[in-house]
Amino acid sequence: MAPPKPVRNPAPRHGGIAARLLAWYDGHHRDLPWRVPPRDLARGVQPDPYRVWLSEVMLQQTTVEAVKAYFSAFVEKWPTVTALAAASNDDVMKAWAGLGYYSRARNLKACADRVTAAGGIFPDSEDSLRALPGIGSYTAAAIAAIAFDRPAAVVDGNVERVMTRLFSIATPLPQAKAEVRAVVERLVPQERPGDFAQATMDLGATICTPRRPRCMLCPVREECSALANGDPEFYPVRPAKPEKPLRRGAAFVAVRSDGAVLLRKRPDKGLLGGMSEVPTTGWTARADGATDASAAPFAADWRKAGTIGHVFTHFALELVVFRTETDGPAPAGHFWSGPSGISGEALPTVMKKAIEAAIPDATKAKRVKKA
Ligand code: ADE
Repeated sequence: MAPPKPVRNPAPRHGGIAARLLAWYDGHHRDLPWRVPPRDLARGVQPDPYRVWLSEVMLQQTTVEAVKAYFSAFVEKWPTVTALAAASNDDVMKAWAGLGYYSRARNLKACADRVTAAGGIFPDSEDSLRALPGIGSYTAAAIAAIAFDRPAAVVDGNVERVMTRLFSIATPLPQAKAEVRAVVERLVPQERPGDFAQATMDLGATICTPRRPRCMLCPVREECSALANGDPEFYPVRPAKPEKPLRRGAAFVAVRSDGAVLLRKRPDKGLLGGMSEVPTTGWTARADGATDASAAPFAADWRKAGTIGHVFTHFALELVVFRTETDGPAPAGHFWSGPSGISGEALPTVMKKAIEAAIPDATKAKRVKKA
């Protein structure tokens, strides 16, 4: 589709854009558990860099709604970076289970260790933040801006959408990133850059949404080139996504008579590294992978319980789930979990789905089998 015919761009009033966004943010910001609202900043409350860092790492690939409960659980369990550094890797992986992209949890712990070894104080510049494990350009800019009020250009997906619309940037993403960054660098105010970063994110999340943006409520509608041209939804332009390959396999849920479930730990490196799983076949790239009970880890009366699907970054996975009851010993490399402990295991979402297909509600809460 061709871009809408441009009309003359509104006069570039960049100082005006930042001021309007900040005024809007004062009245309409989201209340988020890791955020210090503008009224508290104004009376001298300082953001805690640990909470800002933790929230930004969690938010890297996960929605605000999904992060809220995890964030609260983490800060309750580990209120400081030194407390997190003192935790075991396994406990951190368990608390992270379900958030996805598990290398983030490994880097989180590595970063907590490094900051703690350096005295428990986070560095306050983008460059030194970027040198820490799990902190890339975006996260370094976000922490520098939000925790330390540095005038960093913070550009996430929401901000890309806002800026490509405000300035009618029709270059497809990801090539448009440099242009977007350049306009954000021009817009960032010297006063309240942290609030400015959060204001642009909130605008993208609540007003300048991917579908049906609520332009009538937008504080910068008069400056918006895409609105003037009549088609904000045209932006940002993205190339068509290639379809993900489908992989197939089978998962085996063995249940002991006391309700315990047979698990094993995945290798530390690679996809879902260090997480727990029920035994599965390999996940073959071909659609004719082993998906029947002949591939089970031990002979038993395996019954088909269902089929689950899960979408990873680079492929979609379909697992046929089998269930059996056994009171035998755990095979080498496996262990029995539970009956009440399964909800506390470091189980990735795909494994929770597989277990739920065989034992409904097993992973939701602590199960104590009635006598
Ligand atoms: N997305 C990423 N970081 C965020 C933040 N600090 N506030 C709101 N949404 C975000």
